[in-house]
Amino acid sequence: MNIHLEAVAPTFVARAQGIDLRDPPTSAQVEQIEDALAQYGVLIFPVQALDEIAQDRFIRCFGPGRNGTFKEAAGGNPNFIDVGTVDDQGAPIPRDSARWEYMLANRLWHTDGSFNERPIRITALLARELPPVPPPTQFADMRAAWEALGPARQAQLDGLRVVHSILRSREQTGMTPEKFDPQTLATHPPSVHPLVRTISRNGKKSLYLASHASHVEGWPVEEGRALITELIAFATQDQFVYSHPWKLHDFVMWDDRWTMHRATPYDGPHPRKMRQCAVFETEPV
Ligand code: OGA
Ligand code: MN
Repeated sequence: MNIHLEAVAPTFVARAQGIDLRDPPTSAQVEQIEDALAQYGVLIFPVQALDEIAQDRFIRCFGPGRNGTFKEAAGGNPNFIDVGTVDDQGAPIPRDSARWEYMLANRLWHTDGSFNERPIRITALLARELPPVPPPTQFADMRAAWEALGPARQAQLDGLRVVHSILRSREQTGMTPEKFDPQTLATHPPSVHPLVRTISRNGKKSLYLASHASHVEGWPVEEGRALITELIAFATQDQFVYSHPWKLHDFVMWDDRWTMHRATPYDGPHPRKMRQCAVFETEPV
């Protein structure tokens, strides 16, 4: 059966129905979802109470699993991370722990894993437990932002290359390098990616930026940083942003190549449990 897509935001974001993600997807469904990600960027699959096996099987249809190395794996699966207030056993994550501090950077506009040479291509979050008034997750359409810049500005920007570093995002939330475990730092050297990316499936261009973006290759650091700050502010204006109002068992999947996202603060008294999984690019950008 065809997946039914219904647009929920003017330039990107669709609700996807008519598929039960507990069943292994067919190759036709995987292709349809790839097309939908290239067109919409953010897909909301409502009411998908996935167990670990189904969630893992589904995301791996789209590429190699991320197999996290620097945060605690959830549910014993190295591709799962619990993004929220409690750990895998339901115990509150201490606010002064490295894990909490590390996750604070989720509140900055970013795309996942852009500090890797092969960044994350797709991420998905499953809402497993939510506070009574769930704080939204916000998404920004980096394609619409690119298109709104206009040809003259686009010509100045196309071809620039940006250095991304895991330290740059954490520097902005006050996490100092000593707080990282040495293995994380050793395995995450900075990476350089084009400022403007093209999605091969439809040839469309977009800005590629994140809180991890540190500076512009070949430019004085402060000048590059000013450009990055200006472009992120431009791309996250209201007309490019969608705020997702979470419902229990929403499975939300996004294309990290042409969207950014951020958490809104969720440190209230009620538990919030999101199980995250992701797949890498198969080639450098
Ligand atoms: C993520 C992320 C935002 C949120 O899981 O990559 O940034 O609202 N999450 O949990
Ligand atoms: Mn993220």
